[in-house]
Amino acid sequence: MPTILVTGGAGYIGSHTRYFLQQRGYRVVVLDSLERGFREAVPNEILHVLDLRNTETIAMLLKTEKVDAAIHFAGYISVGESTKDPEKYFVNNVSGSLSLFEAMLHADVRKLVFSSTAAAYGVPDHVPIREDQPFAPINPYGESKVMVEKILGWMDKYQDFRSVRLRYFNACGAEPEAGLGERHDPETHLIPLLLTAVQTGKPITLFGDDYPTPDGTCIRDYIHVSDLAAAHIYAVEYLLNAGASDVFNVGTGVGASVKEVLEAVERVTGKPVPFTMGPRREGDPPSLVADSTKLQTKLGWKPQRAELDRIISDAWQFAQSLKTS
Ligand code: UFG
Repeated sequence: MPTILVTGGAGYIGSHTRYFLQQRGYRVVVLDSLERGFREAVPNEILHVLDLRNTETIAMLLKTEKVDAAIHFAGYISVGESTKDPEKYFVNNVSGSLSLFEAMLHADVRKLVFSSTAAAYGVPDHVPIREDQPFAPINPYGESKVMVEKILGWMDKYQDFRSVRLRYFNACGAEPEAGLGERHDPETHLIPLLLTAVQTGKPITLFGDDYPTPDGTCIRDYIHVSDLAAAHIYAVEYLLNAGASDVFNVGTGVGASVKEVLEAVERVTGKPVPFTMGPRREGDPPSLVADSTKLQTKLGWKPQRAELDRIISDAWQFAQSLKTS
């Protein structure tokens, strides 16, 4: 079986993808700085603690481990933080990626799956969003991903460097049986914060109920992290089978409002969620829902755990395991 390098394999989506790659029989090498990842999310024997900017060391690692393809998750992911410190986002997300690509070229590894984001579309003209909607990021985080997507386009054209760019919508859920789930510090994402509110009794603030949506709260496409991980495996297999560079949205195609997610959390946990209604958060588009027809028809991917209650039930199981561990 081929060997896959996973950068950011100690992070949320990276750790789930590493797990499913190994389940499928791949040899996996994980690279993570552990600045934001969790050591316990990766088996020790495959973890290399390294910053992406160590180009030469990474090139050596790729050669000695005989890596066939890479899945590149490593990067900062917080929209809010990116607006406070844009330069930090460009250094980490763009320079880090460039260093990895340079190492890959040195080692003659020319297949890459890249973590991109729905933030690349900004406030879209049409929902559900297709991949051919133009780039229009409204924050430095989204811009950093767009920059890397563009670099990959040129590398495809002139350096025979093939990539699949996956634009994620709202990753959520967990794989509690594998001890994996969502943990960020500080946490900013809706579902873990709703679950924490249930656990602690401290109210969560909901960001605005005056949007042009049926109940006034923002609509998002919540995609189970294990379905997202599966999309990476389809993508890397497509590249290993000599597929051409391409871009795919990864979402369920079904939107849920903030209030609907809150109600689902109440159903699953059997407890009320304490909350207060606050003002809008800057930069939140009213509605982001994926059209993932392309991923389904071209690569044969289908979400298996699309129901909100299932997603929340997995996340809840993981949150409870954290509390007791
Ligand atoms: N929300 C609240 N209260 C909170 C946190 C979130 O009401 O305490 C709301 C947000 O306003 C938003 C929804 O819940 O309407 C989801 O918010 P998240 O922060 O969980 O996720 P985002 O949609 O903001 O962000 C996600 C990804 C980003 C990506 C972005 C694309 O996490 O990486 O989608 O717009 F950039």
